[in-house]
Amino acid sequence: MWPNERLINMFGIEVPIIQAPMAGSAFSDMVVAVSEAGGLGSLACALLSVEQARRELETIRRKTRRPINVNFFCHPQPRSEPAREMNWRRRLEAYYVELGLEHNAAVLSSNRTPFDDKMCDLVLEFQPEVVSFHFGLPERNLLVRVRKTGAKIISSATAVDEARWLEDQGCDAIVAQSYEAGGHRGMFLTQDVSTQVGTMALVPQVVDAVKVPVIAAGGIADARGIVAAFALGAVAVQIGTAYLHCPEAQISPMYREALKNAKDNETAITNVFTGRPARGIVNRLVREVGPMSDAVPEFPLAAAAVAPLRAKSEMAGSADFTPLWSGQAARLNRELPAAELTRQLAEETQEKLRFLETMASPDVLAQAAALATVGRPVSR
Ligand SMILES: Cc1cc2nc3c(=O)[nH]c(=O)nc-3n(C[C@H](O)[C@H](O)[C@H](O)COP(=O)(O)O)c2cc1C
Repeated sequence: MWPNERLINMFGIEVPIIQAPMAGSAFSDMVVAVSEAGGLGSLACALLSVEQARRELETIRRKTRRPINVNFFCHPQPRSEPAREMNWRRRLEAYYVELGLEHNAAVLSSNRTPFDDKMCDLVLEFQPEVVSFHFGLPERNLLVRVRKTGAKIISSATAVDEARWLEDQGCDAIVAQSYEAGGHRGMFLTQDVSTQVGTMALVPQVVDAVKVPVIAAGGIADARGIVAAFALGAVAVQIGTAYLHCPEAQISPMYREALKNAKDNETAITNVFTGRPARGIVNRLVREVGPMSDAVPEFPLAAAAVAPLRAKSEMAGSADFTPLWSGQAARLNRELPAAELTRQLAEETQEKLRFLETMASPDVLAQAAALATVGRPVSR
């Protein structure tokens, strides 16, 4: 039994834990492990080609019959602004020189493509039970095609206005993604990060504003966070950073080490890696060029000029130019296989809920009241 089973029933899962889609870090192994453990495994497709996504989905469908979530970015196609891109490249010039990269080193174009017809065909082919979007929703005709598959559609809101907008467009549930969250902020009605809201304030206000179920995301990494999310009115949690510590996460040893050592105050929201605000561990590029730079070209174009720096410095064993996406609760990590982590989180949450229930029983409350009066000075 869970305090609210609305989402579990809607998605056909057993525990109200969604492994966050994490582009570039979590693939079929993670999705299968979490879904088999009763949660909802999510495959992020933002950095995958259609062929790569198809291979991942084939593996997932072969290994589990449980519900899954497939996730896409749906940002507007960036306008090409050569002068701005050149300016960004110039801003990074000193690093190119330092790393011995040619002035004209090939700048790869960014491969973050928004949800399109081809990816939509893939959704029709594999019929995931849940389809989630980041940065709003795709254009209407694509959304209609996804809806026809019977998939539940969800997206992230970082403010009440965004949650209302998503509900108006027909989302079945909303991920309330807070300031604490790791990775890209799903914000789409504003780009102002200075006004972004934390979990404690965001979740209940979104819950009050919409009728659809709300999933809390951001800084949740253990049973304390999950219980708190329920108390705030959420029906489930979406957890990202905590799953990055699992062996199934496909991240470099450098990234893993950085996550292991990240303190609560060592992440920042930065736009220097892609052009859009995202939370990651502060490293050299963030410190020296960001965290927020006015010089970045539109998302995702900023990533292209950073790519050669990242590749060269990673070869030398440095994460100076690597995006180390992380939420603010990286420290609450435990290195467990994803299925075990999912089960432990669920069990510990149940235990905590039972404990709180016992504490709230009339007997215990009466005892507590009696104890509270012991030793209290008699009022005259
Ligand atoms: C490494 C990483 C990659 C992410 N990539 C995506 C993505 O592709 N799509 C998406 O909707 N959210 C993405 N997110 C955001 C998560 O969905 C979620 O909001 C966030 O992880 C929750 O905060 P937490 O990391 O503190 O648990 C990513 C987060 C991380 C840490």
